[in-house]
Amino acid sequence: MSILTKRSLHPRLLRSSLQGFCRLLSMEPAEEAKKSAAYAAVDNHVKTNQKLGIGSGSTIVYAVQRLAQRVQDEKLDVVCVPTSFQARQLIIDNSLVLSDLERHPQLDVAIDGADEVDKDSNLIKGGGGCLTQEKIVAAAADYFVVIADSRKDSQILGEKWKKGIPIEVIPMAYVSVMNKLKKIDRSPELRMAKSKAGPVVTDNGNFILDWKFTKVPESWAEMNQTIKMIPGVVETGLFINMANKIYFGMPDGSVSTR
Ligand code: A5P
Repeated sequence: MSILTKRSLHPRLLRSSLQGFCRLLSMEPAEEAKKSAAYAAVDNHVKTNQKLGIGSGSTIVYAVQRLAQRVQDEKLDVVCVPTSFQARQLIIDNSLVLSDLERHPQLDVAIDGADEVDKDSNLIKGGGGCLTQEKIVAAAADYFVVIADSRKDSQILGEKWKKGIPIEVIPMAYVSVMNKLKKIDRSPELRMAKSKAGPVVTDNGNFILDWKFTKVPESWAEMNQTIKMIPGVVETGLFINMANKIYFGMPDGSVSTR
């Protein structure tokens, strides 16, 4: 605490150090990082009269909170299309206008989290099991913004996210899809539920396979195509060439973009 004395610090620096210190006390650094990225994305990309895609996960919670704040303060007129049951609940709980792709098939901006982002802004998503609707909504948007804390920033996919590529499959096909994937690399795992016996069942009534690949493919785009061609695969958590802008939050509350 000796560095926080008037003698050693200019009053402005002292104030900002104390603010930072209090912020760190009240919030975990990783949460602070997620919040900073989410707030920056909403502040920089949301305008009135927009149709927005709302992602899933823990980082998007901060984005929706910020969005609700701006809608109230600035009287923004926006509609929100969710990517999951969780996102739908978030939109409703924050008194935002809920819509869907039937009424708004073309979105201006989609904002979502990611499990990993490589140097080319390719993503692994689906840690929360919502990859299929997330990809549909992101693809429906003119501009796809990703928000993440800096721990998700990597050079190559798989460097940081060790749980494998999530792949949503039709339940009756899960074993045959697993066998086909095993021929490409090692066998994936069927994702099991935590507070229920049996597998995770997605919002679409499907299963999730987590594929811990051992060989990094030469082309993620080709690998994505190969997986998608396996009968029974609904969607992969590989989001290749989809993100337009990435916001990485840092533990000190600063934000970097790519
Ligand atoms: C949900 O299925 C995922 O794609 C999430 O968007 C992703 O896992 C990011 O989640 P967090 O914001 O909780 O890290």
